[in-house]
Amino acid sequence: MHVAIIMDGNGRWAKKRGLPRIEGHRRGAEKVEKVVEWASDLGIDYLTLYAFSTENWRRPWEEVNFLFKLFVEFMKKKVQRMKKEGVRIRIMGRREGLPDEVLDVWNWVEEETKDGRKITVVIALNYGGRAEILDAVRRIVKDGRKIESEEDFREYLYIPDLPDPDLVIRTSGEMRISNFLLWQIAYSELVFLDKYWPDFEKEDLEKALEDFSRRERRFGGIR
Ligand code: FPP
Repeated sequence: MHVAIIMDGNGRWAKKRGLPRIEGHRRGAEKVEKVVEWASDLGIDYLTLYAFSTENWRRPWEEVNFLFKLFVEFMKKKVQRMKKEGVRIRIMGRREGLPDEVLDVWNWVEEETKDGRKITVVIALNYGGRAEILDAVRRIVKDGRKIESEEDFREYLYIPDLPDPDLVIRTSGEMRISNFLLWQIAYSELVFLDKYWPDFEKEDLEKALEDFSRRERRFGGIR
């Protein structure tokens, strides 16, 4: 089971409380730690979290900076504990443009947690679905590779061995995909939750899984 989450609404969560936006992100990061724990407890094999999109560079640099700082600190503080719990962490996105410190942490956490077998947590960072497809096409052209099937194309995605998400959850009430995993979500079930990310609770995840289990997936066929 692969669950992917668009963690939206940190800014609005903070605004509602008269706090700076970065405070919302800080609370959002705390929720990341929780959701990894819950997902692992619930037997989810893959959890993908949208942490920073290729479009997020349009935000004020202080906020962009803060998000990278949060990512670095989070990894430095939490990785050893997650490793003990059997978490494997992988980062997915475009490396170009990211600060060196972020790239160093990227390499380090992937190496450090590569033997984790309980759950794989994928952090989408400087990630865009279109960018991923474009990067794949560029590499295909460079390799002079002939692509005969979807499987051939898949080899060029950022993480080729990542199964497609079964379920995508978006918080904050927005009903958009916002350039998340475009290739991979072709047949994913979608759940939109009217709650800001810092307010996301274990029950919300359980409820989304329950919703999912009641849906009938036909993958274009008939029953
Ligand atoms: C969307 O809320 C959230 C983000 C763009 C950043 C998500 C990042 C985190 C939850 C924390 C950092 C991640 C890790 C792995 C430590 P928004 O700012 O777009 O909210 P708004 O739509 O209300 O403005």
